[in-house]
Amino acid sequence: MPEHPAPSDDTPAIVLDGVSKAFGSHVVLDKVSLTVRKESIMVMLGPSGTGKSVLLRCLVGLLRPDAGRVLVFGEDVARLDPERPADRKHLFRIRRRFGMLFQDGALFDDMTVGENVAFPMRMHTDLSGKEIKARVADKLARVGLPTAAGKFPSELSGGMRKRVAFARAIALEPDIVLCDEPSSGLDPVMAATLDELILELHQTLGMTFVVITHDTAEAAKIADTIGLLSKGQLVTYGPREQVLGSDHPALRQFFERSTEGPIQVV
Ligand SMILES: Nc1ncnc2c1ncn2[C@@H]1O[C@H](COP(=O)(O)OP(=O)(O)O)[C@@H](O)[C@H]1O
Ligand SMILES: [Mg+2]
Repeated sequence: MPEHPAPSDDTPAIVLDGVSKAFGSHVVLDKVSLTVRKESIMVMLGPSGTGKSVLLRCLVGLLRPDAGRVLVFGEDVARLDPERPADRKHLFRIRRRFGMLFQDGALFDDMTVGENVAFPMRMHTDLSGKEIKARVADKLARVGLPTAAGKFPSELSGGMRKRVAFARAIALEPDIVLCDEPSSGLDPVMAATLDELILELHQTLGMTFVVITHDTAEAAKIADTIGLLSKGQLVTYGPREQVLGSDHPALRQFFERSTEGPIQVV
């Protein structure tokens, strides 16, 4: 695998600087600026339809913002045009630094768990079959499924399938892991074990995590930085303690699960 140049120690993992994105006249992101420190866990809260997934797609260059900069370890992804071959190569190199656990992150049902986790390695590396097998075993052990390689996704519970998706997301040993609503669709106990898994992977592998959720308990448990996105604007962003103690109305409404407040149900 090609090595990435080591960024200087104070380069943040991610910087968004005035990022805006509209679809037609629908403004989805409105001048969003934030910094994600290396090896931190940033949790972005927000009601449905406020642009959280769009934000993630801008980070990996799957969507290009209309304005603003998206710096990943200091490199501006937003400037890269996937239509231009040179930019495309550059974009893929940056994208390789991300592991992605998509919201609807389905596994390939006709492949075994082991083949699912091996898939990104087969696609993006020239590792030998033996090396891939060893890495698959390592990744599955890390997510607590050391004996699942030969099983099919349909034989696993929802929580286990999420773990396999996690193993696949970290297969290429990314620097940044993006998790789009990892606990959605899971019962509270499974969701809690997934939170613990994020904390464990963060501790043992030293990756940077960006986690999108609308679960405030999850944010309080795993985040060191919390943001709240509402109507395309970052209404609050800061260290966990500061945000949890904030009396910002939109934030309080979100944490108190109230229908009264600045966040309007549409
Ligand atoms: N490719 C697209 N084209 C048009 N509208 C889109 C597109 N992607 C997202 N949107 C719209 O942007 C808004 C935010 O979407 P999204 O980021 O998925 O919300 P969420 O915060 O629930 O993840 C939604 O209104 C959605 O319909
Ligand atoms: Mg979403």
